[in-house]
Amino acid sequence: MNKTTAAITAVGGYVPDFVLSNKVLETMVDTNDEWITSRTGIKERRILKEENAGTSYMAIRAAQDLIKKGNVDPSEIDFVLVATATPDLPVASTAAYVASEIGAVNAFAYDLQAACSSFLYGMSTAASYIESGKYKKVLVIGADKMSSILDYTDRTTCIIFGDGAGAVLFEPNEEGLGVQDEYLRSDGVGRQFLKIDAGGSILPASEETVKNKQHYVYQDGKSVFKFAVSNMAEVSALIMERNNLSHEDVQWLVPHQANKRIIDATANRMGVDSEKVMINIDRYGNTTSATLPLLLFDYEKQLKKGDNLIFAAFGGGFTWGSIYLKWAYNS
Ligand code: UT7
Repeated sequence: MNKTTAAITAVGGYVPDFVLSNKVLETMVDTNDEWITSRTGIKERRILKEENAGTSYMAIRAAQDLIKKGNVDPSEIDFVLVATATPDLPVASTAAYVASEIGAVNAFAYDLQAACSSFLYGMSTAASYIESGKYKKVLVIGADKMSSILDYTDRTTCIIFGDGAGAVLFEPNEEGLGVQDEYLRSDGVGRQFLKIDAGGSILPASEETVKNKQHYVYQDGKSVFKFAVSNMAEVSALIMERNNLSHEDVQWLVPHQANKRIIDATANRMGVDSEKVMINIDRYGNTTSATLPLLLFDYEKQLKKGDNLIFAAFGGGFTWGSIYLKWAYNS
């Protein structure tokens, strides 16, 4: 009997309509289009402007897009995982709310937070649930409203991030397609370089913390960059090696969209040509948990059954890793 693997069988996505371009950012902070483009590869990002709308607003729309396109009956979904660093509320699962709103009335649901690696780790969780034989339909949504935790007077962070959501459905596969291998890592040394100081259990919200802008993202970009370049490239090369994949065997690199230079370094180390590298950082910036599913959303039509995809991510914590997946359908 064939081993049951976990395959992606449907994809959905959502990005807000509002476009924040580099040109507009030039009027907000001391920056310029040339610097942002050459240092990061970003030209514009989407920002969620709807009032009283949080991450779930986008997660629900990405899931509904998947349900419609994939002709999925939401009542058959077993588990809804929302990968996010910006939950609607500090307590109360965003995923539980999303599941109810999309009609996944028979599902259990929870959030997974591993900064920019949240979706990658979520893929691993979904695959394990499917492979265990316990669950048949697992919806993984990567969604972040990064604009809710950014200081738009800090040019070192506000130019990088954007808002968005992407969703994928995992189902059992008996043809050997889907997740083949994974290599996940973390290292707490990274906490000092990329964090939000206040609002958690160490430093709860107070008048003082708000005044000191400690509820915004802080990043020591240079240090994060060094770790990201070496670690993302290393795990991607490692997963190729241990699965005996040459660059010719890899059809697509699906890299976290943090910085075009990090993506190029990873592709170089793997020996993968640039036309095999999924990119949308120019249009969306770094959407944290949404980067990987939004790439699948954008590139779905170009993917063919049997294609070998290497996913790679790196994020705060530090957290990072790589997943090797065989695509399971033609659109
Ligand atoms: O997704 C989670 C993981 N995150 C990442 O992977 C992000 C990793 N880091 C990066 O992508 C890059 O470090 C950044 C894009 C954040 C910054 O690029 P960099 O090439 O590392 O720039 P830098 O921080 O070394 O700054 C170079 C110069 C500095 O000026 P001086 O000291 O050389 O005079 C900065 O003050 O650029 C200045 N600078 C800016 N100039 C114009 C910093 N931000 C800006 C800006 N516009 N927005």
